[in-house]
Amino acid sequence: KTIDSLGDLRGKRVLVRSDFNVPLDGTTITDDGRIRAALPTLTRLTDAGARVVVTAHLGRPKGEPDAKYSLAPVAARLGELLGHDVALAEDVVGPSAQKTVAGLEDGQVALLENVRFDARETSKVDAEREELAAELAALADAFVSDGFGVVHRKQASVYDVAKILPSAAGDLVLKEVESLSRATVDPERPYAVVLGGSKVSDKLGVIANLLTKADRLLIGGGMLFTFLKAQGHPVGSSLLEEDQVDTVRGYLETAAANGVEIVLPVDIVAADSFAADAPHQTVPADSIPDGTMGLDIGPESGALFASKLADARTIAWNGPMGVFEFEAFAAGTKTVAQGIIDATSAGAFSIVGGGDSAAAVRLLGFDEAAFSHISTGGGASLELLEGKELPGIAVLTD
Ligand code: 3PG
Repeated sequence: KTIDSLGDLRGKRVLVRSDFNVPLDGTTITDDGRIRAALPTLTRLTDAGARVVVTAHLGRPKGEPDAKYSLAPVAARLGELLGHDVALAEDVVGPSAQKTVAGLEDGQVALLENVRFDARETSKVDAEREELAAELAALADAFVSDGFGVVHRKQASVYDVAKILPSAAGDLVLKEVESLSRATVDPERPYAVVLGGSKVSDKLGVIANLLTKADRLLIGGGMLFTFLKAQGHPVGSSLLEEDQVDTVRGYLETAAANGVEIVLPVDIVAADSFAADAPHQTVPADSIPDGTMGLDIGPESGALFASKLADARTIAWNGPMGVFEFEAFAAGTKTVAQGIIDATSAGAFSIVGGGDSAAAVRLLGFDEAAFSHISTGGGASLELLEGKELPGIAVLTD
């Protein structure tokens, strides 16, 4: 269901779920990609004369107000991008939210405070989530789901509220699903997936599924050390999920049985400590010295990864290869990004997913337009690539 299905929206209060989970340095937003990605839907609604009430989360507060996770910086940035002030309610559905919504005029936008300040948002108890959803629904006449990054969460503002109000997918959610479908529905082959980042256990499940779908899996980032360990190599003091080593060993066996190529780094940039100026050296991936930690893939690995991407026709990338925020450990991520760009110019369809890799692309100065699609979703894009049904999408099509 698209926004068109909601009919004439002039004067109607439209609740929009956006994903404004942006990286912050104190109160400074270091990458506003997710806020910019929300603009087409918001502008379309305000142009149609709707009174727009946005609900969103930031971080993982513990179900109660916590100034550290206030959406105040987001409201300010959103106002700058829209060209007019965005009022921020002081609560999620309480008196301030009700007053803010009542004060909205046609074509105006207001933001409710971090929806995760209310413990019912993420509750596993259906009735608790449904209660919050009903309170959110009471603030609006229709619901537009546009927070692609959270559509994999069965949460009150994503899932339950869509069952109460007339609901539709926003433009961002539609664009994301269309693009990611190019990898999930009969991808053009070879289909190569580059996985990195430090959320190891978040991605292990995805790997299991990709072992039946992808032709090549290139592994970098913090998660690679669990792979090296599973192959019996020492990893020094690198990031490691000891309890996942056996699982990963199983994946290596499955990959071999399924004819899926798992490409691991052959060299590693190992540092004495986790710091921008830490002394470091490039070492073979199978002999990381004791007391050092791998913070990037090495140059030979970068070249190897680029060669494995060169002839791919579909590429999905999720997670940086190293600690790209530190210049000394950014080379692996840069090489992989360039390899994907080159393959894209040669005709591959490339998807960059994951808040971190999308941020890496921008922070490292690459042209976003050089990739076929940059997803605003981390977990959501991975789960879609994995072929899972996402609750926040399913509820819109039911
Ligand atoms: C994300 O950053 O991937 C989304 O905003 C979802 O956040 P979550 O993992 O805290 O649910």
